[in-house]
Amino acid sequence: MTIAIFGATGKLGGHIIDQLLEREIPASEILALGRNTERLEQLAGRGLATAAVNLDDVDGTAATLSGVDKVLLISVSDPGQRIQQHANAIEAARQAGVQHLIYTSALQAPTTILELAADHKATEELITASGIPATFLRNGWYTENHVQDFAAARGNGAIANSVGEGGLATASRKDYAEAAAVVLTTHGHKNKAYELSGDTAWNYNEFTAAAGKVLATPVSYKALNAEEERERLLCRHRRVPRHPQHQHTRWRPRPHIR
Ligand SMILES: NC(=O)c1ccc[n+]([C@@H]2O[C@H](COP(=O)([O-])OP(=O)(O)OC[C@H]3O[C@@H](n4cnc5c(N)ncnc54)[C@H](OP(=O)(O)O)[C@@H]3O)[C@@H](O)[C@H]2O)c1
Repeated sequence: MTIAIFGATGKLGGHIIDQLLEREIPASEILALGRNTERLEQLAGRGLATAAVNLDDVDGTAATLSGVDKVLLISVSDPGQRIQQHANAIEAARQAGVQHLIYTSALQAPTTILELAADHKATEELITASGIPATFLRNGWYTENHVQDFAAARGNGAIANSVGEGGLATASRKDYAEAAAVVLTTHGHKNKAYELSGDTAWNYNEFTAAAGKVLATPVSYKALNAEEERERLLCRHRRVPRHPQHQHTRWRPRPHIR
């Protein structure tokens, strides 16, 4: 059994590889795919099969996948090109006769209002149309996305964004990786979609209270309205210095609201 992983050189991919090895999948049965040659060399050093991948080259990618049983397609990160790159990976898997395609999607991809999920919805549809038996791992927001909020809290004692009262049931990459490893190493997951998130939703009032405790300093939360958030985004885009109140904050798309 060979498992090929697109995105093996990334952070989520790294956790998934760790979890597969912990489950005693032989390293030689894992084919790590990515573009970062330095990272691929490190993975080869751990005994994994590796290959540099060019998702614009369907035939070459199909040849790379020859003899592979399962493919994990971790969504790529090139804005504007993602759907085509995913389409090419799916077509390469189809040509190579892959038996099971697992895709890291987004929570409630077919119905969510989260704009970022449109690519995931489109990718799920392409996978279904390909006829390859598939599993959708609909991952929620990473907890690690909020590490920078601590930096904002430390920097100016405030966090500002337009999440408002919204709750975020985040989970760590390691947790999502464990789910992927279970699906890759056990039976019964074909033609299923799993909605994956943390157990408990938290909001920014709770986050600032926790940050204040950890940092031993008062931290406040400022809820921005959509227009203020938009202005902040545009300032950032134009590289215009932001209003001092917002200088240590960062934009995030509207998260999944439970
Ligand atoms: N749920 C969330 O909160 C959240 C947040 C951010 C992103 N995401 C999505 O989740 C994915 C995995 O997250 P992560 O933290 O592991 O991201 P990451 O560390 O940036 O890793 C992205 C992986 O995708 C590969 N990749 C990107 N574009 C590619 C292309 N055109 N062709 C081939 N490989 C390509 C990268 O390969 P190289 O490094 O070798 O180029 C890398 O292995 C991201 O790519 C993104 O789609 C989810």
